[in-house]
Order: sequence, then structure tokens, then C-alpha cells
Amino acid sequence: MTDQPGNTEPSFREKHSRSIRIWHWSTFVIIMGSLITVLLAKTMLNTRSNIPLVQQSLQQSNVTVTADQAKSVAHAFNDKVWNWHIYLGYVLAGLFLFRIVFEFFQPKKEKVIPIIRNALKYLKQPTADKMHGRHYLLVRFAYVSFYCALFVQVCTGLFMVYSDDMENLKDIRHTASDIHSVFMWLIIAYIVIHITGATVAEFNKKGKGMISDMINGGEENE
Ligand code: HEM
Ligand code: HEM
Repeated sequence: MTDQPGNTEPSFREKHSRSIRIWHWSTFVIIMGSLITVLLAKTMLNTRSNIPLVQQSLQQSNVTVTADQAKSVAHAFNDKVWNWHIYLGYVLAGLFLFRIVFEFFQPKKEKVIPIIRNALKYLKQPTADKMHGRHYLLVRFAYVSFYCALFVQVCTGLFMVYSDDMENLKDIRHTASDIHSVFMWLIIAYIVIHITGATVAEFNKKGKGMISDMINGGEENE
């Protein structure tokens, strides 16, 4: 993007400040870690499916336990993974806060709203490449939608931590948990589309080099 907003074609080859790069790759690692904890808690370390395993293992040492007793052991392992999920959740919440704060300190050309405004202005020009301009805007709106989804995920997650064991908040916690589960799928959908899109663009003339721009900061309009 050039210094005259709206006059030139918005480019996918943009400069990325150090803050956004650190934020981007840290968020990538933490979200992947978070998804791994969910996967483990729901499959390998799922409480119910491990009850027979606990009973069989103890049986081999001639100890017989009821399903309820075995459940508390299986549950302890499940809890451990959820604790990891919560620790990663705190880091993610911190990263989200960091993303909001440093937006105010970003160079104007890298701020979300001016970027969108610039692309809208560009689209109004008669000579604009409409396909490219709309595609660029769609990608930007996808980023904003992702930030909104992350906000919901952080709020519902923190609420679940806060409301744990609070009998009077049980119903709201249940709703928060449902929202949290649905938003996980929206975030997964975003990640799949985003990584596919970034990879496809990397092999295209207009986007070639954009992934390395996200690593080393990028040279504008190379
Ligand atoms: C959990 C996984 C990921 C999430 C949540 C994520 C999220 C985001 C977000 C929100 C942005 C926009 C930043 C902004 O300007 O405000 C972004 C940009 C970008 N991401 Fe990711 N990302 C993920 C993984 C990846 C991966 C694996 C790659 C590389 C293959 C990648 C490549 C890029 C690139 C090249 C951009 C800059 C594109 C542009 O300027 O339009 N991302 N990512
Ligand atoms: C990308 C981010 C996240 C994803 C994909 C995610 C996903 C999930 C899923 C699928 C569950 C299980 C819900 C259920 O079955 O009821 C869950 C539970 C939970 N999550 Fe997250 N979460 C994320 C971020 C967070 C954050 C930021 C926090 C805040 C600390 C958090 C805290 C929790 C808590 C407290 C639970 C309940 C654990 C339990 O039942 O003991 N999560 N999460």
C-alpha cells in the first residue's frame, strides 16, 4: 500500500510490524496446543472410556474397584489435560489483549480500520481491479471475524474458569460451554481456510512471498 490511501491497489505483500509477527506465530502455537488438549481430553484421556482400562489394570494386581472408584482415577487424568487447556487459555487471553493494545501503536498503514477504509476507497475508483479489491476486502473481513470469534472464546473460557463450582451460575456456565464448543468449530474453519488461502496465494504471482513477509516483516510492494 502506498502513502496515498485509496489511490493504489491494496497489496497482499505488506509490511508487518514486529508486534504482529510475534503475536501471529505465538497465537498459532498456542491455539494449536489448545486444540491438542481438547483432542486428548475428548479421546485418549476421556473419563468414561478409561474406566474399564483403570479397572482392568488394577485387576491385574488383584485389586477390584467399582466403576465409580475407577471413574475418579480416570477423571483425574482428564482434569490434568483440562488444566493444561486453561493455562494455554490464559496465555491466549493475554495474547488477545496484547493484540488489542498494540493496534493503537501500529503504523497507520498497518492498522485494521485504515486498511479496510483504503480498500473501500480503492474499489470506488473506475479503474480498480474489482475482483482483486473484493477478494482483498473479504480476507480483511475474515480477519475481523476471527478476532470477534477469539473474543467470544476468551470470554466464555474465562467465565467457565470463574464460575467453576458456583452452583448459582451452573446454568449460565452450561450455555457458555455450549457457545465455547460451537466457536471452536468456527475457529477451526477459519484456520483451515486461512492456511489454505495463504498457501494458494503464496504460489500466485500477487501473493508470492507473503508467508515469508509474515516471518521477516516484508518489503512493501516488492
Ligand atoms: C492457528 C493458526 C492461525 C491463525 C489463528 C492465524 C491468524 C491470522 C490473522 C488474524 C491474521 C491477520 C493479522 C492482521 O493483519 O490483523 C493473519 C495473517 C496472516 N497469516 Fe495467519 N494465522 C494462523 C496460521 C497461519 C499459518 C500456518 C500461516 C502460513 C502458512 C499463516 C500465514 C499468514 C499470512 C501470510 C498472513 C498475512 C496475510 C495478509 O497480510 O493478508 N497463518 N493470520
Ligand atoms: C482457540 C481457543 C479455544 C478452543 C478451541 C477451546 C475449546 C474448548 C472446548 C471444545 C472445550 C470443551 C467444552 C465442553 O465439552 O463442554 C473447552 C473447555 C474449556 N475451555 Fe476452552 N477453548 C479455547 C480457549 C479457551 C480459553 C481462552 C479459556 C480461558 C482460560 C478456556 C477455558 C476453558 C475451560 C475452563 C473449559 C472447561 C474445562 C472443563 O470442563 O473442566 N478455553 N474449550
